[in-house]
Amino acid sequence: MCCPQCFAIPQITIQLIGTSACLLYGQRVLYKNSQWKWANRITLLISILIAVLLSSLGIFLFVLTVFPEYRKSGFAYFCGRQNKTPSPLDEHRCALLGNITGRVIEFGPGPGTNFRCFENYTADDIQSIEKYVAVEPNSYFEEAMRNEQERLGLAQLPLQFVGLRGEDVDIGEDEYGTYDVVFFTHVLCSVDSVESVLANADRALKPGGKMIFMEHVLVHEERSFLWYSQKIAAPIMTIIGNGCQFKDIGANIKSYFGDRYIIDYFVEFDASMPKPLYFVTPHVKGIVTKK
Ligand SMILES: C[S@@+](CC[C@H](N)C(=O)[O-])C[C@H]1O[C@@H](n2cnc3c(N)ncnc32)[C@H](O)[C@@H]1O
Repeated sequence: MCCPQCFAIPQITIQLIGTSACLLYGQRVLYKNSQWKWANRITLLISILIAVLLSSLGIFLFVLTVFPEYRKSGFAYFCGRQNKTPSPLDEHRCALLGNITGRVIEFGPGPGTNFRCFENYTADDIQSIEKYVAVEPNSYFEEAMRNEQERLGLAQLPLQFVGLRGEDVDIGEDEYGTYDVVFFTHVLCSVDSVESVLANADRALKPGGKMIFMEHVLVHEERSFLWYSQKIAAPIMTIIGNGCQFKDIGANIKSYFGDRYIIDYFVEFDASMPKPLYFVTPHVKGIVTKK
């Protein structure tokens, strides 16, 4: 049976398996005539272990590339699990989303990570959110989102799930310029066209409406330790993170808004991420108002 997508072997898989092969071959050449039999055995064992780990990661990334449904469901499962624990980013996201009201659109809500910011809302506060549109292309998140809504006791939140990409969503001409708040957190790294998502957000917002964002970004300092960690992590993150890439989102956002928006607040900051996620430390957050 033909499997055309099986030929789409990601470069990172080839690199990881190639590195494993070189490691084992190099170990053999270096220690072939070695006098130190024990040292030889120990280094051989360590080389085999590293080679197995690297190759397994390579094969895992290959499987995720060939079977996008596994990738989508796996990503939704991972994010859903992460969502159960508090994160160092909560204070940033909740400071931005502290008191949103009216007609709201969230792009890429995932498992409803931002719902925690409404946990302390009173019943009146929740009722002041007239409509909450969740634009989320990964349908595996819908259930997680509804569960999170229930877990946090937000049954009154008028949630409407739209299973489309932010680039493709069309709220309908009769709703153009009628939304009070549009926001996205950790989303623009994954979209194919930042400009198209911002254009759709812009179309939805009414004059005086707020666009709120918090995104992880490409580090500015080239050849810094962080820059190299992003270079190494990028191909793996793109596959595991379902398309997420390092982008200069701060610059994208500023150039898109131009003078049509007032920048109320725009801050670049380093988030205190757990060590394994060091490469997503640089962030940007802000609130802009449509003129
Ligand atoms: C890393 S998760 C972030 C989830 C949540 N917003 C948060 O702050 O944790 C990225 C989310 O963006 C969604 N996404 C990816 N591409 C998108 C697109 N083109 N339009 C809208 N959402 C998208 C993903 O499905 C996922 O739910």
